[in-house]
Amino acid sequence: MALNNNFELNDGSILPHVGLGTVNIQGGTGVNAVQNALDIGYRLIDTSTNYNNEGMVGEVIRRSHIAREDIYVSAKLPGSNHDYDKAIHIIQESLYRTGLDYFDKYLVHWPNPKQGKYVDAWKALIDAQKYGLIKTIGVSNFMPEHLDRIIEATGVTPATNQIEIQPYFNNKNLIHENSKRGIVSEAWSPLGREINDVLVNDTILDIAQKYNRTPAQVIMNWVNQLGVFPIVKSDNYKHQRSNFEYLNFELASSDIEKINSLDKGEAGRVEGQNPYDYEEFV
Ligand SMILES: NC(=O)c1ccc[n+]([C@@H]2O[C@H](COP(=O)([O-])OP(=O)(O)OC[C@H]3O[C@@H](n4cnc5c(N)ncnc54)[C@H](OP(=O)(O)O)[C@@H]3O)[C@@H](O)[C@H]2O)c1
Repeated sequence: MALNNNFELNDGSILPHVGLGTVNIQGGTGVNAVQNALDIGYRLIDTSTNYNNEGMVGEVIRRSHIAREDIYVSAKLPGSNHDYDKAIHIIQESLYRTGLDYFDKYLVHWPNPKQGKYVDAWKALIDAQKYGLIKTIGVSNFMPEHLDRIIEATGVTPATNQIEIQPYFNNKNLIHENSKRGIVSEAWSPLGREINDVLVNDTILDIAQKYNRTPAQVIMNWVNQLGVFPIVKSDNYKHQRSNFEYLNFELASSDIEKINSLDKGEAGRVEGQNPYDYEEFV
């Protein structure tokens, strides 16, 4: 598959070639780290109410010389706020915390199927979009049944589904299910979040040596060639820079296959968070 310089969504908006993840990036050091990323060229910042850093994201944007319309802020609805009214309120609260007038993209963070209120949450996002609080709406960690239920209930298809994708859990079926419905997949924890060892896996290291690239660049290039938008967290300037340049080579299909073969199925998830069971209420 060819490399994607950007990703066009079903509502016409365009994502750049990479997003900056922000788990554990907070406070004053966080402001500096994300400012560095913007200086390097990152334009999409992925945040969430659960990351306790919406204030930091707003501060970065206020201090930046980059125009607001050139920065893409993507945020997420916490599981404790799936009720329609609560969802609208937390979106407004998150905007107050960031000091922004709108989010460029906003996702239902987890479906929480046992709680069973994700259709209400989705209806709230649809209305928040109408009110101008959100430009693009999407979901995260939604399985095909969850996607079908919200689409049937509302007639509105999410623009993106942000899901776990990394070499030990390549999530190929869900990527396929997303694309069948015209939904772009976004990859969370593509580098294994320093929980698993994908960055020092022998196959990845061999491929990195062959192309004279870093293991992170190899994995991001693989994610991109799966047709997936990669979101990578780094507050380290050197990592941010090299990660940003992950597109200036192209993995051969034989090497993509080698990385595909590292998949361990369910056992490969970084923290065993299967969306059918995992409930996120924070
Ligand atoms: N929707 C969801 O449910 C969900 C779940 C999890 C994550 N996410 C989003 O996805 C983002 C990415 O996932 P993640 O933060 O879990 O993990 P990740 O991006 O897979 O891995 C981040 C780790 O890799 C290190 N790293 C980054 N670049 C590196 C490089 N070039 N060489 C060596 N190490 C490198 C980082 O350390 P340094 O900072 O020191 O570089 C950090 O410890 C999150 O930050 C968040 O925005 C969403």
